[in-house]
Amino acid sequence: MGSSVKRVLVFAGSAREGSLNKQLAKLAAKRIEVLGGKATFIDLKDYPCPLFDEDIEAQGMPENVLKLREILADHQAVMIASPEYNGFITPLLKNTLDWLSRPYQDTPGLGLFAGKWAALVAASPGGLGGIRALPLGQQLLANLGLIVLPQPLSLAKAGSAFNDSGALHDETTGQKLDALCQRLVDSLAATR
Ligand SMILES: Cc1cc2nc3c(=O)[nH]c(=O)nc-3n(C[C@H](O)[C@H](O)[C@H](O)COP(=O)(O)O)c2cc1C
Repeated sequence: MGSSVKRVLVFAGSAREGSLNKQLAKLAAKRIEVLGGKATFIDLKDYPCPLFDEDIEAQGMPENVLKLREILADHQAVMIASPEYNGFITPLLKNTLDWLSRPYQDTPGLGLFAGKWAALVAASPGGLGGIRALPLGQQLLANLGLIVLPQPLSLAKAGSAFNDSGALHDETTGQKLDALCQRLVDSLAATR
């Protein structure tokens, strides 16, 4: 049984040590808490899942998929920070979402996502901040049945964007991140 506290699950579409998107995700989790919400950051490196294959699925849901399903079931919103790979979201993110989209026991396909809120952000060392992947990622999240917040954030030149305490040097970008986090917190508060 999930707890009655509404929570945002925060993760990055990169498993890399030193991932800029993990940094951004961790900052978003902090800001959500400062803004009155509850957030859980998880690192997908801790939950390696095989590349989706219906034959593997037919042998039983992999253990880490089951763990991720349980975690997602206990959250009412997601905040995802995804790198842009060749203008698209990463295979890690797509693979994770594909596993989570599957029916399992009493939960129908897409059942874990239904009616939950989602916000997407992207960080890149490049000048465009992963902006090409954002609309594609948003479309995917909407296809899953998530309610996707508008105005996703892209963080350009992310290699030099964070200070030693993990906050953003640029005040305007920090305000944009806060605005998105606030909308997520407000959306959750309005959810029954
Ligand atoms: C296969 C691949 C494709 C990439 N394509 C893009 C791209 O289209 N746009 C971009 O801004 N950066 C691109 N990059 C660079 C990533 O933004 C950079 O590696 C970034 O640090 C990855 O995110 P992370 O730090 O969270 O792991 C690509 C990197 C890889 C490995």
